[in-house]
Amino acid sequence: MEKLLVESSGRLQGKVRISGAKNAALPILAACLLGTEDIYLEEVPDLKDVEIMCQVLESLGAKVKKVGKGELIINSANLNNYKTKYELMSKMRASFLVMGPLLGRLGKTENSLPGGCSIGSRPIDLHLKGFKALGAKVQTDFGNISAYADRLVGQKIYLDFPSVGATENIMMAAVLAEGETIIDNAAMEPEIVDLSNFLRKLGANVIGAGTSTIKIKGVPELKGARHSVIPDRIEAGTFMVAAAITGGDVVVENVILNHMKPVIAKLREAGCRIDEEGESVRVLCERGLKPIDIKTLPYPGFPTDMQAQFLALMTRCNGINIAIETVFENRFMHVDELKKMGADIRVEERKAIVNGGKPLHGAKVRATDLRAGAALILAGLTATGTTEVHEIYHIDRGYENIEEKFRKLGAKITRAKVED
Ligand code: EPZ
Repeated sequence: MEKLLVESSGRLQGKVRISGAKNAALPILAACLLGTEDIYLEEVPDLKDVEIMCQVLESLGAKVKKVGKGELIINSANLNNYKTKYELMSKMRASFLVMGPLLGRLGKTENSLPGGCSIGSRPIDLHLKGFKALGAKVQTDFGNISAYADRLVGQKIYLDFPSVGATENIMMAAVLAEGETIIDNAAMEPEIVDLSNFLRKLGANVIGAGTSTIKIKGVPELKGARHSVIPDRIEAGTFMVAAAITGGDVVVENVILNHMKPVIAKLREAGCRIDEEGESVRVLCERGLKPIDIKTLPYPGFPTDMQAQFLALMTRCNGINIAIETVFENRFMHVDELKKMGADIRVEERKAIVNGGKPLHGAKVRATDLRAGAALILAGLTATGTTEVHEIYHIDRGYENIEEKFRKLGAKITRAKVED
């Protein structure tokens, strides 16, 4: 087991380049199961979750070859298995995203039910609603879930909640179905658009991604493609907050500015100067931070994956700050850890009230999910003394070389072994 030691680091300064988006790479890797020729991917982030997804693809018969930094060649011509291994599914719930492609390509798929995690129960009812609407028979027993369909026929599907994963899984099941599928109240996240662009390159007929209505016309077969994964808007937001929380001056490179609107707006409200420059954004914070309020919502609202990082920032914003979490039912686990560092935060159901401006001090804390882990690093940068962040495997799942990227900006952060 490892931990990160974070010292008070003063103003972060310099440039940091953002990696490919984890939450675009994972569904795109799953969608590679639909292709029958070589698929060449670039800007694939080097993450634990990506490694596991590649193992899942190989366990199903796909060939996965790493040909350079962030570059993979994947070939699923000889798919010979439709059952994912429990050991892999249990490591990463996003491997559930192979269900749609397997159903579409082979007409059958068997997985263990993805577990919940610290941020919520993470149900899959909307995924299954979509599969059944397309004509699949779905069975769940003793922790397993299977879906079979002799043929999939396009349907009109309404999502009760604009679920990112359900939108992605249904899209991937529908691209080879007969006829037209319409997904209403679809998720509109940029990662959905990236997946749609990738599917279209494979030969799929998908329109409307990025809006709440996505139309898919089934085609007989998908081929190969070359695709570069979009930059990670959450990693970008995390480093933008790092600049703000340390009163620094940081240029975040390889960013799609249009994806950063809620984060840019809130940092400006806190008093930061934000210069938008093409594919980079400069965050400059020279004076004290003002209190802000956030409310997480499906895209284009404020991203739930930035809530923990902003809670850390709010501890430095003098006055009362409010954060409302509407997407997940239990995504304030990081509050107790921040309070160990001296933060003055009160949680009332879906609302966290942060009385910002009080000094933080280093403490032994643990990452409860990957974004909470990032938030604790951010808090540690401004806390007096040393903050030990434990259970950092969560962080390694979603951030590529996080301590190197922080060190390049002047952060005092090292990785160490946890003594038994
Ligand atoms: C994706 O998870 C992301 N993960 C999450 O990022 C992100 O927080 C989330 O979308 C919301 O943006 C990946 O893309 C791999 P959802 P997903 O289905 O697809 C409810 C991170 O930090 N729901 O949009 O699981 C669910 O309970 C991770 O990188 C149902 O009720 O999210 C939740 O309350 C964390 N029924 C809400 O929808 C369903 O069938 C949002 O879930 C599915 C979801």
